Amino acid sequence: MSRRAFFAVALPGLFGMAFFAGNASAQLAARKAGDWVGVLESPQRIAGQKVGDVLAKLDLRPGMVVADIGAGSGLFTRALAKAVSPGGTVYAVDIQQDLLDYINQRDEQEHIQNVKTVLGEFSDPKVPARNVDLALINDVLHHIENRAAYLKALGTYIKNSGRIAIIEMNKDDPNTAHKNQPELLVSRQDIDGWMSDAGFRQIQEFPDLFPGTKWFLIYGKK
Ligand SMILES: C[S@@+](CC[C@H](N)C(=O)[O-])C[C@H]1O[C@@H](n2cnc3c(N)ncnc32)[C@H](O)[C@@H]1O
Repeated sequence: MSRRAFFAVALPGLFGMAFFAGNASAQLAARKAGDWVGVLESPQRIAGQKVGDVLAKLDLRPGMVVADIGAGSGLFTRALAKAVSPGGTVYAVDIQQDLLDYINQRDEQEHIQNVKTVLGEFSDPKVPARNVDLALINDVLHHIENRAAYLKALGTYIKNSGRIAIIEMNKDDPNTAHKNQPELLVSRQDIDGWMSDAGFRQIQEFPDLFPGTKWFLIYGKK
């Protein structure tokens, strides 16, 4: 089996067996860690995430401090880590320790040394620094129960010139994944409102990357 096939197929399967007992009681649409890894690292999903295109829009530079909020299997974490090297740090935040263990193991195998995994709380990412240049929340906001409180807490870790990038499913897309689960649908107006309450305003939008299917929004401090 090639190295790439091992990471895409075999390793997620092994983690599925090793970390079967998830503990995500208060997460909306929770999955056990092994299930998450299989889904998040599937070749089809990876292609749809357009990681390289997203990273190109984030204007990251070596030395920056980044928080990957709801890092999952670390798909974005690993790309962010390369983008801020040398000298930068990525805090990979999740509420499932077994996913953080997976990230640590992958980082070790791939010799990525500038990622720090952080066990967050449901309403507070608990980033161990207040100088974050960019927080990325990709495909996560709809899983968070108290989004307003979470975003307000997240804002306190961002430095004055820092940014928060949100990529979230467009609830108006007729084929959106959770169309029959209203509790998982987040409106654009809600995001703007929560961000405003957290002290942020929208400074960029990239409507062409996921046309009609996802919002890609960047906020800066007011
Ligand atoms: C669909 S996955 C996305 C993972 C990753 N951002 C990506 O795009 O590959 C959602 C992730 O959010 C995490 N999550 C859910 N609620 C969270 C919360 N309150 N704080 C931090 N992470 C959370 C889940 O454990 C899961 O790993």
